[in-house]
Amino acid sequence: MTTRLTGPPSVVPPRDRGRRLRRTEALRRMSAEVRLSPADLVAPLFVKDGVTESQAVPSLPGQCQFSLDGLLRHGERLVAAGIPAVMLFGVPARKDSVGSAAWASDGIVPRALRALREHFGDRLALITDLCLCDYTDHGHCGPLAGDTVDNDETLALYQRVAVAQAAAGADLVAPSGMMDGQVAAIRAGLDEAGFTDRAIMAYSAKYASAFYGPFRDAAESSPRVGDRRGYQMDPANGREADLEVRRDVDEGADIVMVKPALAYLDVIHRIRRETALPVAAYNVSGEYAMVHAAAERGWLDGPAAAVEVLSAIKRAGADMVLTYHALDVAEQLRKR
Ligand code: PBG
Repeated sequence: MTTRLTGPPSVVPPRDRGRRLRRTEALRRMSAEVRLSPADLVAPLFVKDGVTESQAVPSLPGQCQFSLDGLLRHGERLVAAGIPAVMLFGVPARKDSVGSAAWASDGIVPRALRALREHFGDRLALITDLCLCDYTDHGHCGPLAGDTVDNDETLALYQRVAVAQAAAGADLVAPSGMMDGQVAAIRAGLDEAGFTDRAIMAYSAKYASAFYGPFRDAAESSPRVGDRRGYQMDPANGREADLEVRRDVDEGADIVMVKPALAYLDVIHRIRRETALPVAAYNVSGEYAMVHAAAERGWLDGPAAAVEVLSAIKRAGADMVLTYHALDVAEQLRKR
């Protein structure tokens, strides 16, 4: 048999043609189901104690461990680009077995919060990662009992961290340690201290992921021994995310989060149906590093890939995205 290229048509012309609405840029813009805006983005930032110059993080191109001054200068750029919020991580000067630098009122994050608030007023919402892994000498998310993190001891320490962060000006605290009962404990701790007006962004479905690698360089928070699979979720599980979110909603979370984002778009989608609360997604360090590494090799168009990734996360159901691409993408969107 030979293929016929001319002669009477062998196909019925389609009536429905999806291409009609893809024909011009204006038609495509009008028909877009998701629109990415700088207001959707939260910039994660690292601030380091005891340095006068910001230091680049090699595994997170374009990201720094900021000095306090550097943090304020960078904040100016974020505000100018229309980004509404930052998520702060502290890199302390000293670590110990319980992570006490996390709740010291003169610790690096409380100092950064006061400096940011003084400089920006309410133009920038201040979110703090609430965990101990950056502050413990063993790198786990709470004090150890034997070779595992002691859940209930950790809750009492998270309460102290929450109060210290709120007292220094945090608008939201974001517990990321995956301890059972952490949202309820923190809500009670904040309320008892008079911070009834501060919100909780719960890292509700946080997976034990290989995509946190570059972050652990930036935050200097790799576990010395073992890993986090005893408290973070198994990447195999989706239904369990529904459960974790339901618990955090019951405990008083104001925003729930899925983390990482890109390998968990199905989880974002199901959580969107599980709750009417705002859903955040964390486009984590390894997801960012992959795009940069490929772009550096000329294997893909980095800025286009970043917009595509963030649009996909929003399309899956996220209301806001924490992402190291925040500044670059916001500046890109402003030029359009
Ligand atoms: C701390 C924390 C981690 C991240 C955010 N908060 C690391 C971890 O759990 O090991 C990862 C963020 C990223 O990879 O960008 N508990």
